[in-house]
Amino acid sequence: MEQNKKTIFSGIQPSGKITLGNYLGALRNWPTFQDTYNAIYSVVDEHAITVRQNPAELRRQTLELYAQLIACGLDPEKSTIFIQSHVPQHAELSWVLNCYTMFGELSRMTQFKDKSAAHADNINGGLFTYPVLMAADILLYQADLVPVGEDQRQHVELARNIAQRFNGVYGEVFAMPEAYIPPVGARVMSLSEPEKKMSKSSENENSYILVMDPPEVIMRKFKRAVTDSEGGIYRSPEKPGVSNLIEIYAAVTGESPEKVEESFSGQGYGAFKPTVGEAVVEALRPIREETERLLKDKASLETLYRQGAEKAAAMAARTLRKVHKKVGFVSR
Ligand code: TRP
Repeated sequence: MEQNKKTIFSGIQPSGKITLGNYLGALRNWPTFQDTYNAIYSVVDEHAITVRQNPAELRRQTLELYAQLIACGLDPEKSTIFIQSHVPQHAELSWVLNCYTMFGELSRMTQFKDKSAAHADNINGGLFTYPVLMAADILLYQADLVPVGEDQRQHVELARNIAQRFNGVYGEVFAMPEAYIPPVGARVMSLSEPEKKMSKSSENENSYILVMDPPEVIMRKFKRAVTDSEGGIYRSPEKPGVSNLIEIYAAVTGESPEKVEESFSGQGYGAFKPTVGEAVVEALRPIREETERLLKDKASLETLYRQGAEKAAAMAARTLRKVHKKVGFVSR
C-alpha cells in the first residue's frame, strides 16, 4: 500500500443481481479510482444476511458479483477486492464499535425504519446494527473516501460520528471518512414506470435491465419500454420514458443527451427503442462475457478472492490491533 495515496472503500451487497442502473450509477466509476487511490472494494455478504437469504443463491450471487467487479474493470493487482466474511476483522471491530454507538443513533437510521417495515416478521438485531458493521468496514481501512448512493449518506455520517467519539476518548485511531456521492445524471429510471428509479426489486421484470441479461432479453425489454403518444425524441418532464431512453443511450455511448436528441430528431420510437437496446447490449456484452469466463474458471477465481482477503486482512489487522490495545484488551 502506498503511503501517500488516499484510501477509498466501498461495499456492495450480493443480495440481488446488478442492474444497468447499478452499473452506470456506481460500478462503472469504480475502476477510475484505482490509479489515484488505495482502492478497496468488498462484496458484503455479512450485510446481506440481515434479511433472509437462500444460502445457495447467496453463495452463487457472491461469486457472480465478485467476478462482475473484475469484469467491470477492477484490477485485483491494483485494487483490493474481497469477500467481507473472509476477513474476520469486520465482525470483530463491529462488536467493539457497537459499544461506542448509541441505541438512539441507530433508531434514527431511515434505512432501518424502512427495512423493518418491509420485513416486519424479521426485525433482527443485525438489521438494527447494520450501520455499525458498515462503519467497521470503512474504519478498518482508514478510508478517506466512501463512494455510495444518496441512500447511504446517513450511514457514512454515523461512521464519522462513531470515529469521532472513539478518537475523542482514545486519540487519533481512525481516519475521518467522507461520503462521495457521484453526480446524478446517470440516474437510470424504470423502463415500465419511468417516474420511478430502475430497481431489481420491482415485480415487473421488464422494468429493469440486468448486467447479465442475454442480448435478446435486453432487446425485448427495450422494445417494450413505455414511451408516450407524442412521438418526438427529446427530453421533457412530460416525457419521462423517452427522456430515460435518451439518458441511457447517452450514458452508454458517451455522447451528450443534446447530441442524441439532435441525431435522432425526426425519427420514430419504432427505430429509436431498438437502437438504444443495441447500444446497451454492446456496452454490457464484454462485462457479461468476462463474468461468465471468470465464473467457469473456479480455481483462478478462488485464488483471486483468497489473495484479496489476505491483502485486506493485513490492513484490517493493523487497525484492529490498535483498537484492542486502546480499549484495554490483553494482546494476543
Ligand atoms: N450499505 C451499503 C449499501 O447497501 C453497502 C455497504 C456495506 C457499504 N458496507 C459498506 C458501502 C461500506 C460503502 C462502504 O449500499
